[in-house]
Amino acid sequence: MKIPKYLYQKYNQPTPRYTSYPPANYFKEATDYESMVKAIVNSNFENPENISIYIHIPFCGQLCTYCGCNTLITSNKTLMDKYVASLLKEIDLLKTLLNNKRKISQIHWGGGTPNYLPVENIKVIMNKLYDSFEAIANPEIAMECHPAHLTKNYVDELVKLGFNRLSFGIQDFDNKVLETVNRQKPLLPVDEIIAHIQSYSHVSLNLDFIYGLPFQNLSGYEQTIERAVSLSPDRLAVFSYAHVPWLKKQQKGLEKFGLPGAEEKIALFEKAYDILTAATYKPIGLDHFAKPHDELSIALKNKRLHRNFQGYCTLETTGQVYALGVSGISQLASAYLQNTKSITKYMKAIDNGVFPIEKFYFVNDDEKLIREIIEQIMCNMYVDFKNLAIQTNRSIDEIYAVTQVDFNVLKDFEQEGLLTFVNDILELTRTGQFFLRNIAAAFDPNMKNNRKSFSKAI
Ligand SMILES: C[S@@+](CC[C@H](N)C(=O)[O-])C[C@H]1O[C@@H](n2cnc3c(N)ncnc32)[C@H](O)[C@@H]1O
Ligand code: SF4
Repeated sequence: MKIPKYLYQKYNQPTPRYTSYPPANYFKEATDYESMVKAIVNSNFENPENISIYIHIPFCGQLCTYCGCNTLITSNKTLMDKYVASLLKEIDLLKTLLNNKRKISQIHWGGGTPNYLPVENIKVIMNKLYDSFEAIANPEIAMECHPAHLTKNYVDELVKLGFNRLSFGIQDFDNKVLETVNRQKPLLPVDEIIAHIQSYSHVSLNLDFIYGLPFQNLSGYEQTIERAVSLSPDRLAVFSYAHVPWLKKQQKGLEKFGLPGAEEKIALFEKAYDILTAATYKPIGLDHFAKPHDELSIALKNKRLHRNFQGYCTLETTGQVYALGVSGISQLASAYLQNTKSITKYMKAIDNGVFPIEKFYFVNDDEKLIREIIEQIMCNMYVDFKNLAIQTNRSIDEIYAVTQVDFNVLKDFEQEGLLTFVNDILELTRTGQFFLRNIAAAFDPNMKNNRKSFSKAI
């Protein structure tokens, strides 16, 4: 796969990643607490009915210089215990507001590094969730793990607790790259811990990689991705390094080593893409790959792929997301509610028996429509506007008017071979998949009227 240079030169503009619509930097200060609580109560009457729980564990043993996540570097076990106690109280608070007929379909532990917590802490929280809510027959229970803290016993305990999706941050296998970005080394040889996880046939394994870090080059990255394929994970994420030093000051420290430019980054991604697709992995959305029989690949084939802050999922398992922990973002049908990013404020609010919500956004009907279009583009690379008109009881012209889409821009995309747009059906091409964010942005009126800062598209 070769992406023409003039295209990525043209489209390498600051563009949202669209993990939500509107993106998180449009959220507002939450001043009216009652309306936040009401939004949670109202979610009981909206779809999807299922409950997805997101638990944010901010703690990490060491700060990776490239990191864009909400983290806290500490080894303070007392603080961790206090945080876990707050999470338990937050579950109690949530339970009082949710209809007890609703069931959990997903639990996702993200961070930071959830497996930096002793497994006893994980056990206490999981048991609390199981005691507080019913779950569907086969809920998806996932954890983002750092191999620096993972033992076989830890994996065994997670499996006993019902975890069936484990994700590993690998980033790169090249030691020079890893040392440059201050990445802690795996505790056990990666092959050994992966083989142990794979001995559980029902546990799905994902590996995360990044491209665009200092000292990454084509031959090194080729070796990294080939080694990844040899480990046979069910899914891989190959993230474009998001350089946002105005938000994450430590990232500035990478600039002295020289960061690969857009052209080099594209070449790294093309390399990964070619190796992975030759090994029969299916490209999913912006940066994911899945084995052909993985449910994400099947959902994509059936145009039923979905996405939330935690990543891609299928419409079958997705629920409204209720986030626990510092900086967590609840994604309800009509509202986004974000907890404070300060751990002190978080624990204090919970001690006072209130949700530590600091930011919010209530999504109106027009924004829901735009969100649906953007999600269809980002996930299924396909939008049937006639169908959408029937589903939403609006005329096609009204839908186009709400998005403020400029048909000349769509024509440009079409002439550049990024999509086809015939009879009100928009379908992205293989090349168009690399420009998902740009194509989605064409349907986002905020990109015309109310632009904010974003990382570059590539
Ligand atoms: C919460 S971490 C995963 C768990 C664990 N903390 C670790 O690093 O292994 C989530 C993933 O986000 C990705 N990531 C972090 N910062 C990023 C950035 N600035 N740009 C792109 N991807 C990033 C990394 O691939 C990382 O594996
Ligand atoms: S990449 Fe993972 S381990 Fe590294 S600082 Fe970020 S969250 Fe922590």
